[in-house]
Amino acid sequence: PDTAIIVVAAGSGTRLDAGAPKAFVGIDGHSILRHALEGVFAAAPAQVIVVAPAGFEGDAETELRAAAGQRRELGRVVTGGDTRQQSVAAGLAALWGDVSTVLVHDAARALTPPAVIDRVADAVDGVVGVIPTLPVVDTLKRVDGSAIVGPVDRDALAAAQTPQGFPRALLESAYAAALASGIEYTDDAALYAAAGHRVGHIPGDARGFKITTPADLERARQLLAAEPL
Ligand code: CTP
Ligand code: MG
Repeated sequence: PDTAIIVVAAGSGTRLDAGAPKAFVGIDGHSILRHALEGVFAAAPAQVIVVAPAGFEGDAETELRAAAGQRRELGRVVTGGDTRQQSVAAGLAALWGDVSTVLVHDAARALTPPAVIDRVADAVDGVVGVIPTLPVVDTLKRVDGSAIVGPVDRDALAAAQTPQGFPRALLESAYAAALASGIEYTDDAALYAAAGHRVGHIPGDARGFKITTPADLERARQLLAAEPL
């Protein structure tokens, strides 16, 4: 019973606005996708599905080959969809063999430590999904138009990261239910919970931040300059 990781890399990167699909934007000498896959192959998953933007499957193959080395046969590239949810569904459809646990990971979280990936995989148990989270550090307010209407208890909140891990069969049925409902969920944990399943959380890592804006890309560059691949 193996663990697979679906690395979704099919987004366009509108907010990063770097002239190429986000996964193929360079951080240092290497792309966001390459860094994400280096982390994935340093962790233990037995199967790696890379979900690429249409027309960039060959580029994704190149990055997969570079990160996988001798373990190239563990990986596969498929074409993504117009939404993240569709891209994950394409990844799920490409699983092969005896996979019992599925992790779904944003390529944009390129510096996620392998230990986080292994922690999530290890924590998936029975019917319960698992996501890495960080405490919320900002002071949060509830607002109504221009008015502050109340405080928010930070202890009741957490910031979600990826990879998010689930028992394969339940995640597949949750995706089928989401497709039938026509609802787009904010992340896999929300989709899974909407199907009536439980989700727990484990500690994430600050390096698992999502590269979304040019400032995030700069942060990734600085972290790698201090500690290169
Ligand atoms: N993703 C995907 N398929 C999509 C949309 C997103 O595989 N149709 C992936 C992205 O490649 C990324 C992850 O989902 O690794 C998180 O999405 P996000 O950070 O929003 O990336 P983009 O959608 O590419 O960026 P933006 O929203 O700024 O356009
Ligand atoms: Mg997006």
